[in-house]
Amino acid sequence: MTTAPKSRTIWHNGQFVDWDQANVHVSSHALHYGSSWFEGIRCYKSSRGSEVFRLAEHVKRLFDSCKIYRREIPFSSQDFQEAILETIRVNQLEHCYIRPLILCGTGSLGLNPLPTPTECFILVWEWGRYLGEESVEQGVDVCVSSWNRAAPNTFPSMAKVGGNYINSILIKMEAVKSGFAEGVALDGQGFISEGSGENIFLVHNEKLYTPSLGNAILPGITRDSVITLAKERGYEVLEQCLPREMLYLADEIFLAGTAAEVTPIRSVDHIAVGDGKRGPITTQIQQDFFDYIEGKVEDRHSWMTPVYKEKSVESS
Ligand SMILES: Cc1ncc(COP(=O)(O)O)c(C=O)c1O
Repeated sequence: MTTAPKSRTIWHNGQFVDWDQANVHVSSHALHYGSSWFEGIRCYKSSRGSEVFRLAEHVKRLFDSCKIYRREIPFSSQDFQEAILETIRVNQLEHCYIRPLILCGTGSLGLNPLPTPTECFILVWEWGRYLGEESVEQGVDVCVSSWNRAAPNTFPSMAKVGGNYINSILIKMEAVKSGFAEGVALDGQGFISEGSGENIFLVHNEKLYTPSLGNAILPGITRDSVITLAKERGYEVLEQCLPREMLYLADEIFLAGTAAEVTPIRSVDHIAVGDGKRGPITTQIQQDFFDYIEGKVEDRHSWMTPVYKEKSVESS
């Protein structure tokens, strides 16, 4: 991302405020200690109109992230989903990236965040391809990071919490400074974990492999979608520990995440993946993913929530 995000209006604790007025005080707990929880969601312009991809699952993960840290969101999941849709409507966007953010506000700068108030924001802005326009076809070059993901029982990987992203930032900066598009981190035991902001899939002998939840990954919603689509195509998908050298021996590798969508990897540490081009299974999974979000196929899993219709959020 090179351009600064910007749109007109931000949702803050149930009210709409101008982009430039959506501020917090410098004494906010989150600024000092990383005590914030967030999501990254995409709204696509599909053949049916503007639709948010897997809204309920993203909001569920946001609530789960907060639960791990004993932080209650003072809105129901239903109301939060509706607020996201309303924020897109108010900004009159057809497609956008959505960033809900919950943070510990100002009130105490002791480490204990429990006395601090909860500030809730929803930002939306137009955002293109995260790893560059050509990345989806050409693939990207990555390295194995010298930084590991957090060991178990240190930082909870299943929480999308601000503090965790200091690790992602180190992985990303090291990769970019060394001329790679992305870094792939190993977990605390040396097994493959994930990219700085994406999950990873390997194809080997026509089977798909991806690290398990025990390998210090964020349980990605794109990862879950890819697993579903791949199984529908008849592929076996194995969630397991994967040694680093599988990155050099895999026939195909791709990244999966809201920002990166489905992006092929063409080399790891300067070693070509397969023949160094996007492989056939990656191409098929990408096609299935893009057909789904572009509305070229029926929304058979109810993954898409329309934005510009009344009563968009189904009551559950
Ligand atoms: C560390 C990390 N892993 C994986 C992912 C992919 O998750 P999702 O597909 O839900 O965007 C993300 C992005 O949110 C991430 O930040």
